[in-house]
Amino acid sequence: MTAELEGRSIIVTGAGRGIGAAMAMGLAAQGAKVTIADIDPDTAEETAEAIRSDGGVAVASQVNVTERDSVKEMIARTAEAHGGLDVIFNNAGIAQTKPFLSITEEDWRRVLDVNGLGVLICMQEAIHRFVDQGRGGKIINTASIAGKQGYEPLAHYCASKFGVVALTQAAARAFGAQQITANCICPGVVATEMWKVIDKGFKDEGLTSRENEAFESFSSGILLGRPSVADDLVGIARFLASPASDYMTGQSLVVDGGMVFV
Ligand SMILES: NC(=O)c1ccc[n+]([C@@H]2O[C@H](COP(=O)([O-])OP(=O)(O)OC[C@H]3O[C@@H](n4cnc5c(N)ncnc54)[C@H](O)[C@@H]3O)[C@@H](O)[C@H]2O)c1
Repeated sequence: MTAELEGRSIIVTGAGRGIGAAMAMGLAAQGAKVTIADIDPDTAEETAEAIRSDGGVAVASQVNVTERDSVKEMIARTAEAHGGLDVIFNNAGIAQTKPFLSITEEDWRRVLDVNGLGVLICMQEAIHRFVDQGRGGKIINTASIAGKQGYEPLAHYCASKFGVVALTQAAARAFGAQQITANCICPGVVATEMWKVIDKGFKDEGLTSRENEAFESFSSGILLGRPSVADDLVGIARFLASPASDYMTGQSLVVDGGMVFV
């Protein structure tokens, strides 16, 4: 039996660790040829090596998603290594905890640069490639429940993730005729290094009094009774990368264990 993603060339940005690493490993296990793209070349290589040692196909590519030349290089390297590009997961992102009135212009620009502009550039460059190839393509962006609901004190992060949903919908409208689809995944509270940064931010800002308090508080009402782990996002990633989702575009799929109903 052929694996569902056999031979598909897939880039995952921010795949050195966390959600991106889990998705990339899950995609490779279904036969995809993956590019592990991350600003940190060491973690990118570690994830790629883990996939190769499991018998999968992976190359590492250092990328800064906010720099167009770097993104172009990532796509060119992928096309050369895997024979084209079929799917891109724009997953790289950063977070920062800051009370609403304390967010500075510098904070706004830093978060929006990576989470907004970075996604736009990766989408644009992938679309150029898909159009040149003439066989369509799939864009899958990692937004968040923070792209569906504003949370204090993560306002600029939420704004960036609402932006990801908007970019997804706009691209779906613009490129459907070329069989290029765009969808996004909205995770909830996922136990990764990012949540450690968010949790520490709550404590440093005096909003919580102990480590893990914010994480536990955000997780407390989850209907399925536990916070997410990165592997919870693998099923949706496989579905969106596979032919099973071919007739779907412009959608935001919330995978949060039951937190936000939209
Ligand atoms: N952890 C959560 O609870 C959660 C919830 C919803 C959405 N998300 C989103 O999921 C995505 C992955 O988050 P995670 O929790 O795995 O975080 P993480 O911090 O563990 O991983 C993010 C990865 O992105 C990379 N990265 C950061 N800036 C980059 C840049 N400019 N260019 C290339 N790579 C860059 C980092 O090096 C890191 O490997 C992010 O977009 C995040 O906003 C996370």
